[in-house]
Amino acid sequence: MLRSLYSGSNLNRAQNLDDLRARAFKRLPNFCREYLEGGADDELTLKHNRQVYDKILFKPRMLVDITQRDLSTQVFGESINFPFAISPTGFNGLLSHEGDLKLALAAKKAGIPFIQSMVSTVSLERIAATGVRHWMQLYLFKNRDNLKGIIARAEKAGCEALVLTVDTSIIGNRTWDKRNYKAPMKLNLPNLFHLATRPAWIWDILVPKGMPKFSNLGDFLPPEKASAKNAASFLTEEMSASLSWQDVTWLREIWPGKLIIKGILASEDALQAKALGVDGIIISNHGGRQLDSVPSPMDVLPEIRQAVGQDFLLIVDGGVRRGSDLIKALCLGANLVTSGRAPLYGLAAGGQAGADKALEIIQTEADRTLALLGCTEVKQLGKGCLFKH
Ligand SMILES: Cc1cc2nc3c(=O)[nH]c(=O)nc-3n(C[C@H](O)[C@H](O)[C@H](O)COP(=O)(O)O)c2cc1C
Repeated sequence: MLRSLYSGSNLNRAQNLDDLRARAFKRLPNFCREYLEGGADDELTLKHNRQVYDKILFKPRMLVDITQRDLSTQVFGESINFPFAISPTGFNGLLSHEGDLKLALAAKKAGIPFIQSMVSTVSLERIAATGVRHWMQLYLFKNRDNLKGIIARAEKAGCEALVLTVDTSIIGNRTWDKRNYKAPMKLNLPNLFHLATRPAWIWDILVPKGMPKFSNLGDFLPPEKASAKNAASFLTEEMSASLSWQDVTWLREIWPGKLIIKGILASEDALQAKALGVDGIIISNHGGRQLDSVPSPMDVLPEIRQAVGQDFLLIVDGGVRRGSDLIKALCLGANLVTSGRAPLYGLAAGGQAGADKALEIIQTEADRTLALLGCTEVKQLGKGCLFKH
């Protein structure tokens, strides 16, 4: 691809997410860049997530009037501006000061949902106050009483949906983490030297309040005890390796709102979720950060759609870097697409303006793709819009 002379230095000149990514990498210290970018083990799944999209070929139709176009779609009976939501990503405060708040405001402006990570660094009440369509991601940590407290807070704050992540009962093997730190959250010397070359990051993140802290863990890890070191060991200790379908039943009973399960890849699991009264699933491999050598959500999407039927909410994530990727996923049967890294590239590149820019790029590209395909509405998308499917 022609990269031209663009060096990633000017936000307004960014033409695509790759440009935002280049700019983000110029700003971030190495340990944050690897946190954002890395996958598990040999990163085979991480690479595959992207390659799958590259191989899908559109079948455009000509001589269609495409003057009036509409990318909006319905989710839980309400309209969103285009079929995209921001995936939950933990520790966004490492990439931009109060990063979750900036992402939520960007999502609100774009008219799409924001999924807040349970291990985020802004309280869920502050996110709710932005008025964004707010979904809260949960890890089912071991202590259920504390968990009930967080769920009650989410209900009180008016969260529309809980998103239960089920692919992280233990944490994947992320070797960059082990290389960058000499002890939990203690950077090794090369990373400390590299950090010194990133004054803009130091000014944005460290100067206002020091290292960001978890803000939604309630009694698990109150902010005053949530030092970076505690946070790292907390995650390893509290992840519940005994997580099972009984926990889904438990959550379904105590949570009155919409319930989505994130991290499904097998059609059998999708069917089980549907049978237990779950409202939708995110087909996901956690952006290649958990089990390596699993398929991309796009590989399994057609089979899962066939298994669960037309009316069940299917969301996919993993490797989405272009608006055209949204359209490809919808052609294969998804209702909605989410991404973690795509909006984070914008956030890390330029804070609030960068997050806005990332969403604007995705929406514009999706609209252009829809038009060039010869379609005017997302409901026209299907396998007939693709070659070889
Ligand atoms: C930096 C980072 C942090 C993440 N944190 C969480 C998290 O806290 N909870 C969760 O369910 N998924 C988390 N994920 C996974 C994302 O929700 C999503 O599944 C993944 O990013 C999709 O792949 P993509 O980044 O290629 O779009 C994280 C991903 C990244 C890149």
